[in-house]
Amino acid sequence: MDSIVVRGGKPLSGQIEIAGAKNAALTLMPATLLSDEPLTLTNTPRLSDIKTMTLLLESLGAEISSLQDGKVQTMSCHGAINTTADYDIVRKMRASNLVLGPLLAREGHAIVSLPGGCAIGARPMDIHTDGLAKMGAEIDLKDGYLHAKADGGKLKGAVIDFPFASVGATENIMMAATLAKGTTVINNAAREPEIVDLATCLRKMGAQIEGDGTSSITIQGVDRLHGATHPVVTDRIELGTYMLAPVIAGGEVECLGGRMSLVASFAEKLDAAGVDVQETKAGLKVKLRGDRPHAVDVTTEPFPGFPTDLQAQMMAMLCFADGTSVLEEKIFENRFMHAPELVRMGADIEVHGGTATVTGVDRMKGAPVMATDLRASVSLILAGLRAEGETQVNRVYHLDRGYEDVAGKLGGVGADIERVPGS
Ligand code: EPZ
Repeated sequence: MDSIVVRGGKPLSGQIEIAGAKNAALTLMPATLLSDEPLTLTNTPRLSDIKTMTLLLESLGAEISSLQDGKVQTMSCHGAINTTADYDIVRKMRASNLVLGPLLAREGHAIVSLPGGCAIGARPMDIHTDGLAKMGAEIDLKDGYLHAKADGGKLKGAVIDFPFASVGATENIMMAATLAKGTTVINNAAREPEIVDLATCLRKMGAQIEGDGTSSITIQGVDRLHGATHPVVTDRIELGTYMLAPVIAGGEVECLGGRMSLVASFAEKLDAAGVDVQETKAGLKVKLRGDRPHAVDVTTEPFPGFPTDLQAQMMAMLCFADGTSVLEEKIFENRFMHAPELVRMGADIEVHGGTATVTGVDRMKGAPVMATDLRASVSLILAGLRAEGETQVNRVYHLDRGYEDVAGKLGGVGADIERVPGS
């Protein structure tokens, strides 16, 4: 298995291009199931999760072609399709569950493997299935698969009040409702930029959607959707990750394609920590004002609150802060697995349940560490940019799921970093 080796202590300087968002592309791609005309996505990130979604959609009968080294994907599903999403693909990537709503809407029935738990939490699908049941779907769990059938073969509009603003459930229900009979209202919907990106694309396909980006979304069902071309929104999590690189390593970096509106609550915390974030024509320019960040307390929340997907990276920064910070993880029940690895590098972190207390230290030392999940893996690389000596991050296949060429991007602004092929 490949690993990444970082030698700390090099200040950074230059520009990093931010790719299209993984978490937008993974919900935009299943939208192709809602029409029999081609959907073209541009600015698609080149990631292993995108390859997995491509495999899944092809297993359902989609034809997918890619151009520009995978940045442009054209997908089409004309005629009869397979409505079973197999465990062998779904177990590799939870976001596979985003085919459930579109399959039900298109065909009136679907069999989708339950993804099961993951490293960061149990992650059930009850909000998805309760919402679809309100739209007239009968859903049974058999042998690890959700068997779903729309009453009379077609979903019906409904008013659905979510107990929690789930991103995935908002996306699944919104897609399902585009072809349902009547009007659907989702209350307490998720407001993430990826939801707005999906709604924008669906409108280009002829859907009638209002309120995306707010906590109440209204979808007026239509008979059919047509083809469209849509650019995937910038990846705000990749953006936030690279904004932290010069804060930790020193120097100044401009993140091309970044916009303050995508990371406002995060940028607010950086400002409190003594970091300058400046919006430029091309993106966001970032540098630390002093020589160490200040301690800040952080609580993860649904958008527009502080994103849970930047919690691990923020912890890496707070390891070097002048003071003690309290990090509260409110979205996932097991998302501090990076903490013991950072402690191996000399960090001072105490974890109790969903709260981590991070006391900044003057220096950390490189060590061999283990990636446990996508965001944890990149937080170890960030800490390695300042730790003395060599940090070797193992199991970087986690990283490939959500980051294009980390070694190339950080190396391009002066980091001493390389990817070491596995034996
Ligand atoms: C999306 O996951 C993202 N993944 C996650 O990013 C992100 O962390 C998460 O939203 C929160 O922002 C994709 O978009 C592919 P949720 P999702 O449904 O949709 C509970 C990354 O690093 N819940 O908003 O699965 C759930 O267990 C990944 O890129 C239920 O209880 O997130 C969790 O605790 C990791 N029942 C919370 O809600 C449900 O039916 C948030 O889940 C659904 C969710």
